[in-house]
Amino acid sequence: MTKALHVLLVLSLFALNAPAQSTQSPDGKLSLAFALTADGEPTYQLSFATRPVVQQSRLGIELKDGPALTKGFTVIKSDISQKDETWEPVWGEVRRIRNNYRELTITLNQAAAKIRMIVRFRLFNDGLGFRYEFPEQPDLNYFTVTDEKTEFNLTGDHKTFWIPGDYDTNEYAYSTTKLSEADATKGESFKDIAVRSIMARNMVQTPLMMKTADGLYINIHEAALVNYPAMNLLVNKQTFSLMSQLVPDAIGNKAYLQAPDKTPWRTIVVSDNAADILASKLILNLNEPNKLQDTSWIKPQKYVGIWWGMHIGKYTWSYSDVANIKLADTDWSKLKPNGRHGATTENTKRYIDFAAKHGFAGVLVEGWNVGWEDWFGKWKEEVFDFITPYPDFDVAELQAYAAARGVKLIMHHETSSSVTNYERRMDEAYRFMKQHGYDSVKTGYVGRIIPRGEYHDGQWMVNHYVRVAEQTARNKIMLDVHEPVRPTGLHRTYPNWLACEAARGNEFNSGWSPSGNQPEHETILPFTRLMGGPMDFTPGIMQIKFDDYDPARKGQVRSTVKTTLSKQLALYVTMYSPLQMAADLPEHYERFLDAFQFIKDVAVDWDDTRILEAEPGDYITIARKAKNEDEWYIGAITDEQPRTADIVLNYLTPKRWYVATLYIDAPDAHWQNNPMAYKIQNFLVNDETRLKIALANGGGAAVSVKPASSEDLKKWKRY
Ligand code: NOJ
Ligand code: CA
Repeated sequence: MTKALHVLLVLSLFALNAPAQSTQSPDGKLSLAFALTADGEPTYQLSFATRPVVQQSRLGIELKDGPALTKGFTVIKSDISQKDETWEPVWGEVRRIRNNYRELTITLNQAAAKIRMIVRFRLFNDGLGFRYEFPEQPDLNYFTVTDEKTEFNLTGDHKTFWIPGDYDTNEYAYSTTKLSEADATKGESFKDIAVRSIMARNMVQTPLMMKTADGLYINIHEAALVNYPAMNLLVNKQTFSLMSQLVPDAIGNKAYLQAPDKTPWRTIVVSDNAADILASKLILNLNEPNKLQDTSWIKPQKYVGIWWGMHIGKYTWSYSDVANIKLADTDWSKLKPNGRHGATTENTKRYIDFAAKHGFAGVLVEGWNVGWEDWFGKWKEEVFDFITPYPDFDVAELQAYAAARGVKLIMHHETSSSVTNYERRMDEAYRFMKQHGYDSVKTGYVGRIIPRGEYHDGQWMVNHYVRVAEQTARNKIMLDVHEPVRPTGLHRTYPNWLACEAARGNEFNSGWSPSGNQPEHETILPFTRLMGGPMDFTPGIMQIKFDDYDPARKGQVRSTVKTTLSKQLALYVTMYSPLQMAADLPEHYERFLDAFQFIKDVAVDWDDTRILEAEPGDYITIARKAKNEDEWYIGAITDEQPRTADIVLNYLTPKRWYVATLYIDAPDAHWQNNPMAYKIQNFLVNDETRLKIALANGGGAAVSVKPASSEDLKKWKRY
């Protein structure tokens, strides 16, 4: 069947009153058709070669005090244009990104209400983006969106990687089921997530990853989420249709817009090869270019921190154990210290020394500022001031100590989701940072949002995260956000926004979560959460078994991180971020200095990335070339199944010898019984070498590849 005929057949299922507008991707593989139904409902459909990806699906927006922008339209204009340009991100997985698409712009008119609406489609070789636009016009100025009615009518009951639809959190573990089996109430069992807002049983979050029975990979998400709430998806389990469900505000409205205005892009990345999904730059391409003039101060980096120690229960964030404090009244010098406070001057110096010795740029210190005694779960507004240190944390002394050793302290602003409080204080907080030599901040949004009634993922909070990105940029501060709305590629526009958490990170493996993260978790995240941007996953745990420092935990489910040690190393490559933590305690790294070498060596900014092997939920193998170096770093991970990673090196400079250092699972390694068994081997390799590396159950491998010196040529054997 020809493509044109196929499009016609699909479209003819609906009664049409206007000819379809259509276009194809630059390589001709994807086709998109727009049409109005007999009722003037806008619809689109998307095909991959001859295979339908999204069958004819309706588009529209509903307004408060206004007509529904879902039907009664005529097409007054349709334009096709194309673009093919290449741009350079400030930092990233590749040095240059090609932005190559055909654009179909449909201008619609609803004659009865005299309202015009544009639907803009961009069709790339790897998928589709589209958004709604509201041009300036006499009869639509200020308007309130009560619903978005964007459908994605899928072709079957696809295999789906999903987390519950939720207005406040994305920290769930993924389930892999048929689409029709997605059931958000599963989220109710996640007692380890501070605030859960599951509103419908059939609601799931984006990025939603699916695989069809005939091997098409489909990822649905959004790009450039600004001034609009995040989109969840409602699943119709009979028709396999998805419907947008926007996160409401405190009084139930979804978005307040003012023409000219626009929604974020809805994105559908599609390929018959899973690696293409991970390599896709579609979401970045749909974001606005970098808005910052000077980016010389933005530095991808690795850091250590006073952090894991709190999560495993060795330290506390708080200075004392009193239960009730008031920021304005408490005399901190009179409080009785609990003796387990992590963020002391002494301990921070120890971390600074460790960072300086091993070449880490930053030291994160959490729990340095007053307020942690009752920060959690109280829905308290005046919770932190972000400028007053505890009595045992000497800001000036540490500033000098860090500077003398060429290390930067990383600021921590836990807001406890008292966002009104943070907004009032953040100007002063950033000034305090700059005065004391800090140029990066990790923010956090644990708990229920204030303004009360707002959700983490609603329009008000979406705008807050962007305000923080803008205000930190104005102060030349790099940003890492925990517990925000899921990212949508805004790091292109604000490259100081290095990373977000916005998913279930490694901290869930520290023992406070009853279930932790299952071995497959890290093979799903790049296909879901990371589609929108880098994740501060905080890999690098080497003391995997906790009974080592807490004998009481022996044999418990929560007594172990559910990966091998080598897999923790591989995550520095497979879990992309320009900001990577070496999350374990310095005293643990001292025990594994040979394996720690990989974390010291691995780059955080890249010229090139090759996705060598990938299957969501099963395995990922990625090779990346360090920026401006002839060095490659390779990470291979598997789920609970063992496998052999097949690693080609054909991207190396031909006719050149390199030393490959392999950090691999020992033959008897296993995530559950023997996770810390690893081997390190060196070999000479070239572009014709093919590494075959056995990965244990829940295991992984990390490989560094560097040009061989004449000494290396004598010392090591060929692979
Ligand atoms: C949750 C964050 O994800 C974690 O990294 C941080 O340590 C705690 N909140 C405390 O702010
Ligand atoms: Ca978190």
